[in-house]
Amino acid sequence: MRIGLLTGGGDCPGLNAVIRAVVRKGVEVFGHEFVGYRDGWRGPLENEARPLGVPEVRGILPRGGTILGSSRTNPFGDSVEDGARTIAANLEAAGVDGLIAIGGEDTLGAASRLYSEAGLNVIGVPKTIDNDLGATDYTFGFDTAVNIAMEAIDRLHTTADSHHRVLIVEVMGRHAGWIAFHAGLAGGANLILIPEQPFDIERVCELVGRRYDAHFAPILVVAEGAQPIGGVPQGEGNLDAFGHIRLGGIAHWLEGEIERRTGKETRATVLGHVQRGGTPTAFDRVLATRFGLHAIDAVDDGRWGKMTALRGTEIELVDLTEATAELKTVPAELYAEAETFFG
Ligand code: F6P
Repeated sequence: MRIGLLTGGGDCPGLNAVIRAVVRKGVEVFGHEFVGYRDGWRGPLENEARPLGVPEVRGILPRGGTILGSSRTNPFGDSVEDGARTIAANLEAAGVDGLIAIGGEDTLGAASRLYSEAGLNVIGVPKTIDNDLGATDYTFGFDTAVNIAMEAIDRLHTTADSHHRVLIVEVMGRHAGWIAFHAGLAGGANLILIPEQPFDIERVCELVGRRYDAHFAPILVVAEGAQPIGGVPQGEGNLDAFGHIRLGGIAHWLEGEIERRTGKETRATVLGHVQRGGTPTAFDRVLATRFGLHAIDAVDDGRWGKMTALRGTEIELVDLTEATAELKTVPAELYAEAETFFG
């Protein structure tokens, strides 16, 4: 068979490990051929592809980002006319029998529609640093992002203690607090604020005061999607092709509020794309590699319309529709476990 590969959405450590595993097993075990589409769904829409063989995937296992490039192009978006039909025609003309789409909820949502509405042969592989896909216990990229954020928190403890300042670390995660929760717990944060639990700013200041009463300066970890009760305005103009708002800035809002209310010097650090960069952790390399191996098995078995998922320690295949049906958020009971360390 001739199989197309693409990576869509935000880049994520481990994407190259999936590509390598798919191509290595696909060529060496099954004798398939591969083409790599450029920049997510833009590749098959604009017919931009290049051959992908074993030489092209050598040495990419530890590399962050994606050798295929990525974009947030939406084949069903308003700016794309007849996206599904164009992709189907381009695949047919190139002799491509099926696609492996590696992405998060948006890329896989499009993959699911291309399979069910346009009858395309698609297998999905879940990636996102946000870890917010309901059908899988973990997505690769998350562990790397958490470790980067944890290391940043470890380093910020020094300045918090030396200067007796309140330090706030803003992490990514969109509408889920997984990165904040895990990095905050691992880094010994004195407060973790997540989108799932709107916070009371007075209570936040109370906990800051309590930390100073114990003669220590507090470190707060805030997820980019966290909000005070009642909310604060978020950048309404900045929507991507899938209609998502560009988040960010809550740490600076908190910086102003905490300093004004407590009189304590407060500084914000926004980690941003640093969390998505660099080499994947061993956990992410192994998970991405296993997803790749199972994805090419699924192709070989003709199990189209499926996505690889981690359930416990096993990799299973689930329906693509299930993959994108539900956002996985931090349960209240789990968040409550971290409260022991607040203040
Ligand atoms: O989904 C991954 C993610 O990094 C989110 O955590 C973040 O909100 C978003 O992507 C940022 O996207 P972009 O890099 O396109 O601004």
